[in-house]
Amino acid sequence: MPEVVDLGEFGEAFRTDPHPVYARLRERGPVHRIRPPGSDPGYWAWLVVGHEEARAALADPRLSKDGRRIGVTFHEEELIGRHLLGADQPEHTRLRGLVSRAFTMRRVEELRPRVQEITDDLLDTMLPYGRGDLVQSLAYPLPITVICELLGVPEMDRTEFRKVSTEVVAPTSPESAYDAVVRLDAYLRELIEDKRCAGPGDDLLSDLIRTTAEDGDRLSPQELLGMAFLLLIAGHETTVNLITNGVHALLTHPDQLAALRADMSLIDGAVEETLRYEGPVENATFRYAAEPLEIAGTAIAEGDHVMVGLTAADRDGARYPAPDTFDIRRDPRGHLAFGHGIHYCLGAPLARLEARTAIRSLLDRAPDLALDGPPGEWLPGMLIRGLRSLPVRW
Ligand code: HEM
Repeated sequence: MPEVVDLGEFGEAFRTDPHPVYARLRERGPVHRIRPPGSDPGYWAWLVVGHEEARAALADPRLSKDGRRIGVTFHEEELIGRHLLGADQPEHTRLRGLVSRAFTMRRVEELRPRVQEITDDLLDTMLPYGRGDLVQSLAYPLPITVICELLGVPEMDRTEFRKVSTEVVAPTSPESAYDAVVRLDAYLRELIEDKRCAGPGDDLLSDLIRTTAEDGDRLSPQELLGMAFLLLIAGHETTVNLITNGVHALLTHPDQLAALRADMSLIDGAVEETLRYEGPVENATFRYAAEPLEIAGTAIAEGDHVMVGLTAADRDGARYPAPDTFDIRRDPRGHLAFGHGIHYCLGAPLARLEARTAIRSLLDRAPDLALDGPPGEWLPGMLIRGLRSLPVRW
């Protein structure tokens, strides 16, 4: 068995910039045994860092998302119930089919004018100040407003909500993560109950309550809770960081910013390259070997944990020439920022729409946008790659 690489030993440097560590691992091979920072001393997991191997692993049905197959239950699942990211086929196919009936491309397309309107309103509020935190002013409020309107979640204390939901994806401790799930669970239960009692509206959550497949199948109350939880968290925690990482990458690469300003039709390329270069999901959610298998010649035993390194894979020089160069004109197709296979991100079209709208409108209306000092700290943990704050001036 290969030695365990203790990623905690790299300290703060790994949180701030994990790419050099992933590059060194990639040089040594596509699969490693690692210990994530802050985990128990005896704990380790496999980490796949090569692009080709990561893509194959994401689509490999022997790598299960359903902890029950190896006798594991999660605290989160005990409360919220299981959702798409904890299900294998055929359960996954069934759940995804039901949500896809309600969350259609048409629904996302219909949101286009509203996304622009919310962006314009946020910029109207932000721009008179001349300086501010991009995360607070734009990158967070846009996706949270969109996902709340889409789901039919009423206005709530969004600063408080932000704290709770960020704890779920980038916990400062296992206890605080659990506490955050407890609070979201209580909130969503009440919300769903209100919708049932008040009579469903025309939002996505109401549609999910109503949605029935041709064979009469529908989501159980527990499945509905899991779905609402997943959509609410996945629907904004990631997009916040796509907008922030995109603006950060542009402001730290003036030549790329100038190229984009000179030709705004490059905006799609800029967003795709951000996804490849600094994707918001650093590592895919956990997978477990449901049976023994090999990845690139490495034997993985039944029950082993497998992490798939999305940002590591997307900087694999064997797939992308000059992988550490942020180049909005390159062809970044095939990147794994939204995953791959049956769990491929359901919200990718919405995330792209929001990021393109936010970045384009920001650059249009703030022609001299610049960094205003060093960025805030990078989020802890190995799931999400994003900044707590990004001070900018214009
Ligand atoms: C830039 C923004 C986003 C990124 C980078 C992103 C990334 C991802 C990734 C990597 C996965 C697969 C995880 C795995 O296989 O372990 C995923 C799944 C998922 N995402 Fe996203 N996501 C984003 C935005 C959204 C939005 C806006 C929504 C909803 C409105 C959403 C909903 C979901 C759902 C429901 C799944 C589970 C799909 C399944 O298991 O079938 N995501 N996302």
